Amino acid sequence: MIGSGGREHALVWKLAQSPRVTKLFCAPGNAGISQQATCVPIAADDLPGLQKFAEDEQVDLTVVGPEAPLALGIADLFRRHKLKVFGPTKNAARIESSKAFAKDLMIRQRIPTAESRTFEQISPALEYLESRSMPIVVKADGLAQGKGVVVAQTHEEAKDAVKNMLERHAFGEAGQRVIIEEYIQGEEVTLMAFADGKTVVPMLAAQDHKRIGEGDTGLNTGGMGAYAPAPLATPALRYTIMREVMYPAIEGLSRVGSPFFGVLYAGVMVKDGIPYVLEFNARFGDPETQVVLPLLKTDLVDVLEAVVEHRLEQLSIEWSEDSAVCVVMSSSGYPGKYSTGLPISGIPDSLVTGGSTVFHAGTAWKGDQLVTSGGRVLGVTAVSMNLAQAQREAYEALASIRFDGQYFRRDIANRAL
Ligand code: AMP
Ligand code: GLY
Repeated sequence: MIGSGGREHALVWKLAQSPRVTKLFCAPGNAGISQQATCVPIAADDLPGLQKFAEDEQVDLTVVGPEAPLALGIADLFRRHKLKVFGPTKNAARIESSKAFAKDLMIRQRIPTAESRTFEQISPALEYLESRSMPIVVKADGLAQGKGVVVAQTHEEAKDAVKNMLERHAFGEAGQRVIIEEYIQGEEVTLMAFADGKTVVPMLAAQDHKRIGEGDTGLNTGGMGAYAPAPLATPALRYTIMREVMYPAIEGLSRVGSPFFGVLYAGVMVKDGIPYVLEFNARFGDPETQVVLPLLKTDLVDVLEAVVEHRLEQLSIEWSEDSAVCVVMSSSGYPGKYSTGLPISGIPDSLVTGGSTVFHAGTAWKGDQLVTSGGRVLGVTAVSMNLAQAQREAYEALASIRFDGQYFRRDIANRAL
């Protein structure tokens, strides 16, 4: 497993349940992951280091969690060296790593999405803003850890966002191009699907909570909580998303010579029954994975292997009838500046207590003391027979956990209830 967040902990936790797994490594992992896998200090973007490790240890399957190594071409490198890897090639991963590429693909494949324009120069961008009504959305083209999107309520805010990206280089290279996009008012839903180049199999739909504040206010974050299945995603809507979004996207990538193997993530805004794509990701979502994987009944190794070996068509993937809620506990100040190294206490000894699981995101060991090491620190997931019960259990489970400056939203899953 490559990566170190809550998503990777959920993946490791699920993989560890497979009778087919004999040994699990995670690079670089975190304190929680180290309880289920051997963590090795290789950075997720150290491609040569990861390749050498996989060869030395004769790793049978490498699963890539985050987007950065995919965008750098880890899947291409591993395939060239005959190493099995779960994740798309660099070219296919452009569906996430370049919003401009994704927009072009959507237009070509007639996938519903917000109307938009792409700019590299500041004055035409500012001029374009003058002609638009508010709110409007300004996005950095490249990877920005979920933080490169500004929903601007006023022309001032929109201009400031453009200047931040194109003039002040707030997102470095990722912000050298900006996308200015029509604001769509609707309900958001995440649908992830396994794709092996030709067969596409959806997972349960989830809903993320991207804003830092309760009632969906304040800055965008990497995700403050999630639940699944999302009642908004009726079978009919899931079918529509598959037909209007997933298949055309997969087909469009194949058509440009970049077939997609891995998890395709569609973040959509549903308005009048139409799923408008806000973003594609080329990987499992975080924190959606922390609610979707606990509901997967099929052995995850079987699923990942079927993708890698292009025989997804032969596999039937089963899901539990239960519901899951994940509440993220973050460091105060996140998504801005925050402190690290603060002691964490009150996590139950065993990872699993009743129906809840504590997934670690930004944690580390300082001697034998568990400490914070990131903005998002923990994600507490509860699985129960319905969403209301899962929500109650998730909040009960996190009540004993303590660290200085801890913050969490108290309204995760309220939208569905
Ligand atoms: P993204 O990273 O592109 O998914 O954007 C982050 C968040 O910004 C989304 O989850 C939405 O809440 C919001 N957002 C992005 N694009 C739009 C849009 N066109 N209309 C309304 N909200 C948007
Ligand atoms: N939950 C948003 C993401 O994984 O990008």
